[in-house]
Amino acid sequence: MTQPRVGRARERVLTVRGIGKRFGAVRALTDVDFWVNEGEVVALVGDNGAGKSTLVKLLSGVHEPDAGTIEYDGELVEIASPADAQHLGIATVFQDLALCDNLDVVANLWLGRELVQGTRLDEVDMEQRTWSLLRELSAKISSVRTPVASLSGGQRQTVAIARSLIGDPRVVILDEPTAALGVAQTAEVLNLIERLRERGHGVVLISHNMADVMAVADRVVVLRLGRNNGVYNVAEVTSATLIAAITGATDNAVTRRAADRPTSSGSAVPAEEGMIIPLPRSGPRRMKDLARDTDA
Ligand SMILES: Nc1ncnc2c1ncn2[C@@H]1O[C@H](COP(=O)(O)OP(=O)(O)OP(=O)(O)O)[C@@H](O)[C@H]1O
Ligand SMILES: [Mg+2]
Repeated sequence: MTQPRVGRARERVLTVRGIGKRFGAVRALTDVDFWVNEGEVVALVGDNGAGKSTLVKLLSGVHEPDAGTIEYDGELVEIASPADAQHLGIATVFQDLALCDNLDVVANLWLGRELVQGTRLDEVDMEQRTWSLLRELSAKISSVRTPVASLSGGQRQTVAIARSLIGDPRVVILDEPTAALGVAQTAEVLNLIERLRERGHGVVLISHNMADVMAVADRVVVLRLGRNNGVYNVAEVTSATLIAAITGATDNAVTRRAADRPTSSGSAVPAEEGMIIPLPRSGPRRMKDLARDTDA
């Protein structure tokens, strides 16, 4: 499914260093490093409570970090509000999608950013642009004038993702986009994620589904108990290794069961030079080592 993308220069868009966030006594994130390149799908995985949503909320301006730095295009930035994130070019599709069920696809896409001509809404222009965006995303939506309430789960996800692209963000963050979907709809959304990568967006995919991660991601960042627990190139990792990093156990029952099953090898995604992350020999490598390697 994944296209080989050898030799394509992929610029770093977003770099998070040593980020920390507490909620009262709860340390949601401690000293976390994370980065996204353009034209790359980074899966962010981890068990419940690992800190995935908290990291996303720091990147989308919902919460502010207590420690660490965020760089965008190599410049230190503060993301103090959702408007800041939008202004920088970071768009997030949260799990609840926040669509207006009674409005049609066009209205949902342009909500709050309507195109106007004089004092009237430019419905024709908005509808044309909606179609061209949906076509570009190979979306399977036959009418843009039906209320989104009547769409399938996959189509609703598609509308939410298309809406996130209206401001032309460089980074698109998707929180569990396939969690509620069946097989065919999941495939539709995974295709859509590949279109986003082709358009050059840096995509952050939060997922509990290892098959989805292996099918579509280039790189996987594992969080465990609010800390980094490994970064892997999908081309060189198995689901079993990822599950071991997620659970923090290299040889527990779950890992063994997963290892006994044939795992998808993850279609070949040769990273460009400097981005190849060797499989760890004894447990996941520390993120700091990786950052040193790849920054070199
Ligand atoms: N607003 C908040 N107030 C207090 N604690 C919070 C808040 N948000 C998150 N936490 C805590 O921070 C930790 C990380 O939560 P987070 O939602 O980031 O995990 P997650 O990896 O997204 O989990 P899940 O897979 O269940 O969505 C948890 O212990 C959670 O209870
Ligand atoms: Mg979460």
